[in-house]
Amino acid sequence: MASLTGKVAWVTGAGSGIGQAAAIALAKEGATVVLTGRRKEPLEETAAAIKQAGGKAVVKTGDLMKAAAVTRIAADIDKKFGRCDILVNNAGLNIVERKWSQLTPAGAEMVIDGNLSSAFYCSTAVLPMMRRHKGGVLIHTSSMAGRQASILSGAAYSAAKHGVVAMSHTINMEECVNGIRSCVVCPGEVATPILDKRPIPITPEERARMAQSEDVGDLIRYVACLPPHIVINEVMINPTWNRGYVANLQRMAEQQKKAKK
Ligand SMILES: NC(=O)c1ccc[n+]([C@@H]2O[C@H](COP(=O)([O-])OP(=O)(O)OC[C@H]3O[C@@H](n4cnc5c(N)ncnc54)[C@H](OP(=O)(O)O)[C@@H]3O)[C@@H](O)[C@H]2O)c1
Repeated sequence: MASLTGKVAWVTGAGSGIGQAAAIALAKEGATVVLTGRRKEPLEETAAAIKQAGGKAVVKTGDLMKAAAVTRIAADIDKKFGRCDILVNNAGLNIVERKWSQLTPAGAEMVIDGNLSSAFYCSTAVLPMMRRHKGGVLIHTSSMAGRQASILSGAAYSAAKHGVVAMSHTINMEECVNGIRSCVVCPGEVATPILDKRPIPITPEERARMAQSEDVGDLIRYVACLPPHIVINEVMINPTWNRGYVANLQRMAEQQKKAKK
């Protein structure tokens, strides 16, 4: 029997990128997967891929920046399944105009609501179901920018993702006595549609060297399948060809060349 048979997993941002890969991986392990995002069509595509492989998926659209929408979806999950064993709190977004010289209050609000408030809304919505069953695992997609502020990712995104890291750790601090576990995943660059919002476009060659959605989806599956007596509190996942490291090496090589002249 697959290790997640009988479990219900709610995956946010499941229509593309990391969320889609995680949903497919969890369904392969036997979980019934609830797929959320704002657009219906990509979610239907994920559901079709899961069903074609013999898995179970349900589409629940909604804008997670709206607390009422989150409450409604969680209530639907509770009514239909009576449980939510796994939350993949993954939906997130960024904006092109992210530099302080361009950032507007509306832009900051969107990035903070779309990455942090939405993650809080989903966590608070599933915890009562998990407490009732004395167990559950929350897996949040933060970012390396949630550990190290980055101007590439922008001020609002870095701040929001730092908030997601803090949020996850406090869930373990309070909910461990209820058998509930929380893991924050901090990816570096992953070749997904969110990169289309980068102010400096990324070439297909660069994308090919990055981590891929399936790499992070498989990590999420691994965390979800851990035995209930252990938790991986935090994990970083990066491409081996780390563009930040490579740029540093190139800078150092140039400085050494200049110093020799
Ligand atoms: N790719 C990277 O390099 C990278 C690195 C570190 C962290 N991350 C994080 O990884 C997570 C997944 O992103 P991704 O890289 O897989 O990019 P992606 O393909 O753009 O996925 C983001 C998903 O979130 C959904 N979403 C966004 N805002 C939403 C909202 N308000 N309500 C409901 N759904 C919403 C989007 O669907 P709709 O547009 O249909 O709503 C989309 O399917 C994000 O939290 C992102 O910040 C990505």
